[in-house]
Amino acid sequence: MANQLCIVLDFGGQYNQLIARRVRECGVYCEIKRYDTPIEEIKALDPVAIIFTGGPNSVYDMSSPHISKDIFDIGVPVLGICYGCQLVAWTLGGEVKSCEKSEYGKIEISHNKGSLIFKDVPEKSVVWMSHTDYVSRVPEGFTVTAASADCPAAAFENAEKKFYAVQFHPEVTHSEFGKKMLHNFLYEVCGCKGDWVMDDFIEKTVAKLREQIGDKKVVLGLSGGVDSSVAAGLLSRAVGKQLTCVFVDQGLMRKDEGDFVEETFTKLFDMKFVRVNCQKQFLEKLKGVSDPEQKRKIIGTEFYKVFWDKIREEADGGFFAQGTIYPDRIESGKGNAAGKGSTATIKTHHNMVEKPADIKFDGTIEPLADLFKDEVRAVGEKLGIPHDLVWRQPFPGPGLGVRIIGEITEEKIKVLQEADAVFRDEIKKSGIESELKQFFAVLPDVKTVGVMGDHRTYDHLIAIRAITTDDFMTADWARIPYDVLARVSNRLTNEVEHVNRVVYDITSKPPGTVEWE
Ligand code: XMP
Repeated sequence: MANQLCIVLDFGGQYNQLIARRVRECGVYCEIKRYDTPIEEIKALDPVAIIFTGGPNSVYDMSSPHISKDIFDIGVPVLGICYGCQLVAWTLGGEVKSCEKSEYGKIEISHNKGSLIFKDVPEKSVVWMSHTDYVSRVPEGFTVTAASADCPAAAFENAEKKFYAVQFHPEVTHSEFGKKMLHNFLYEVCGCKGDWVMDDFIEKTVAKLREQIGDKKVVLGLSGGVDSSVAAGLLSRAVGKQLTCVFVDQGLMRKDEGDFVEETFTKLFDMKFVRVNCQKQFLEKLKGVSDPEQKRKIIGTEFYKVFWDKIREEADGGFFAQGTIYPDRIESGKGNAAGKGSTATIKTHHNMVEKPADIKFDGTIEPLADLFKDEVRAVGEKLGIPHDLVWRQPFPGPGLGVRIIGEITEEKIKVLQEADAVFRDEIKKSGIESELKQFFAVLPDVKTVGVMGDHRTYDHLIAIRAITTDDFMTADWARIPYDVLARVSNRLTNEVEHVNRVVYDITSKPPGTVEWE
């Protein structure tokens, strides 16, 4: 049985994925589609709800994304948010004007208690506004249900036809009762059943995988990251030993991480686990290379060379599996500055690589292709994958290779692994781990003079980096308490051989990047 579907039509707003995630948190499966998806295609998907997102444009600009009036004739309830709200008004014959004063930030609205959207929401509440245009006249058949001091139609609706519009952003947490309002739209207006449940997802996916794979084999590249680990867990539950996981350890992982991954997967899951240890081979290729881009390229190329060679050995027809997740696949609507392909390449990420033509499979399997990261983690927890793996921080493909500035040597890898382990341990003990999105040590290509006992030392400098961020596009350096920094510094200089100085990176992104290379 397919899940009920809510479609989020993407008009280029920055919170579009957030809307979809909130809808799913309400227990309703949701997919994002471009605003110009043909109506026939939308109808064929048989959605129970449609949400128009925000966007940076003005409905009066004819080059802005618009939508045919026909969308209102297919018998599916619609909720317009921000630009989507103005689009509902404009498309159905209302009027949109430019505000004298843009509304931005937390704004109080009051509603008239007559709307299902505001069921069990206090009469006055704070919402997040961010708009320059506003709806000055609602279309015929619509009534205004909420207003703010500067926005006469903060919410309006045609309850009979089930068309709703809100000028604010219910999806962001700054809107105090935003999630309740979305929940009301889905359950009170659209009559959703709430059939998007992670336990069901595991059961249904395992059954589907079994049917698809039959008695064939599957190979999966396991990186030790969250996505491939959870994909491995699901596939193992579905087909056990028919699954081969190939784990390439290039020797640039964190301290003991390779062993941890191996131990976890061989103990916890039924599968064939193949670990390829190839640090020496990588170091050979990286000898004398200090240019960051060249290092990334070499690590990327070498990784896939080793990986595909192993796959050639292991694969025997059957399927190729990967841990692709939903955000990897979303095609953005027009006007979205974060749209795929629109950002300049600041650094080469080597995660997306084509399969060599000579390796033939019966097909590709992506068991997580419909899930957001939070959902992948929830599935991981339910499959019994250890907490540290499920909540693992992002770790760059080239590993410690981009955290060792200058030439990479075995000695430097050891110093950095030890330093990083001490830093992580201290952050864990200090109880501030959950406030940080990413934290790690870096080994700059710098030695400095120090003094130890009566001796002069000339040894490595360690930089520590800790950031807070929502999306990794921008980030701020974390305000770690001084006493924690003091303990980290003490332990690094005392416990890690060849470290005699510690600095804390206080650069935000931009202008810095999270990683140093
Ligand atoms: P930057 O340094 O670009 O990092 O500000 C943003 C986020 O991306 C991670 N990162 C990578 N992840 N392959 C990855 O999978 C890579 O090559 C790579 N480089 C950076 C980085 O750790 C941070 O979370």
